[in-house]
Amino acid sequence: MPTILGIESSCDDTSAAIVVDGKVKSNIICSQAIHKKYGGVVPELASRAHEKNIIPTVSEALKIANITLPEIDAIAFTQGPGLLGSLLVGNCFAKGLAMAQNIPLIAVNHMEAHINAHFIEEIKPEFPFLCLTVSGGHTQIIIVKAFGDYTLVGQTLDDAIGEAFDKSAKLLQLPYPGGPLVDKYAQKGNPNAYKFPIPEIKDLDFSFSGIKTSISNFLQINTNNNPQFITQNIEDICASIQYTLVDIVIKKIKKAAKLYQINTIAIAGGVAANSELRNKMLLKQSELGWKVFVPKLEYCTDNAAMIAITGYYKYLDKDYNELSVVPNARLALGFD
Ligand SMILES: Nc1ncnc2c1ncn2[C@@H]1O[C@H](COP(=O)(O)OP(=O)(O)OP(=O)(O)O)[C@@H](O)[C@H]1O
Ligand SMILES: [Mg+2]
Repeated sequence: MPTILGIESSCDDTSAAIVVDGKVKSNIICSQAIHKKYGGVVPELASRAHEKNIIPTVSEALKIANITLPEIDAIAFTQGPGLLGSLLVGNCFAKGLAMAQNIPLIAVNHMEAHINAHFIEEIKPEFPFLCLTVSGGHTQIIIVKAFGDYTLVGQTLDDAIGEAFDKSAKLLQLPYPGGPLVDKYAQKGNPNAYKFPIPEIKDLDFSFSGIKTSISNFLQINTNNNPQFITQNIEDICASIQYTLVDIVIKKIKKAAKLYQINTIAIAGGVAANSELRNKMLLKQSELGWKVFVPKLEYCTDNAAMIAITGYYKYLDKDYNELSVVPNARLALGFD
């Protein structure tokens, strides 16, 4: 019964999880509130907070799972992509513990882990499947042929969809991270109240920077006419922005499914927590005959359970790393 400790520290969440024989026994996420007052993640503050949080977070994960350190068979940690200082904390901690316990160390790609969050649950997607990875730093369409076997068929040419949510929220003077708040206000708004232009990007690629500019211009014109415009219409504005952003990714994943004749579709990453994206994807099951996989909310945004489950499969393959392995802020997934 392989027992894996997973550690995630790529951005502003310190997380530790225990997976025993492919099942999550604990998944502790310690979010850093300090960044709120700055309106975004401050990298140096993030790495200092990881240093402070990592030992209590790992201790809690062990306690909840009722596992002791000598029972751990391997330690999986996020190698990248992410903030270098934040990654270094997880990397050094994992190395130190692996050396002390004399057990294997397993480096995990954060984006691969977002995809593998689908292997936490009892019912898993069958290969090949399409994964729409929508997060704070990425927007990708990937054909997943097997564990570790990926073909990238579409990606954003500029901003990620999560950035588009967060930057729109900032323009609406909502606190960071704004994505979940846009979702919350949107639930009471009219998605057709305002129209924003949809970018015409070829093939399966995306672009979100133009929408951000059009939202900024729209707000400027309307607040010049009425300084209370945002507060008076926040629900309709959020619903219209969310409708536009979700519509873009739904259209592209539909196009990809048709092009590659794959009807098992998964969504992953922080924006997979968005209620409209989740609902629309689930509607496609009956509408288009897709098999749709939507992760539990706690496995969408950054979490160590997805690192530990990826570590578990790599452990079964004896895919270990040397203690000399270093973090890589721009680590790319191994695509064909
Ligand atoms: N309900 C929601 N609706 C819209 N966006 C959301 C929601 N919940 C979270 N997000 C967005 O998800 C993003 C965070 O996701 P995640 O933690 O996976 O990103 P990241 O780890 O910073 O980036 P990456 O995974 O690309 O390295 C943020 O942009 C956040 O606003
Ligand atoms: Mg992430």
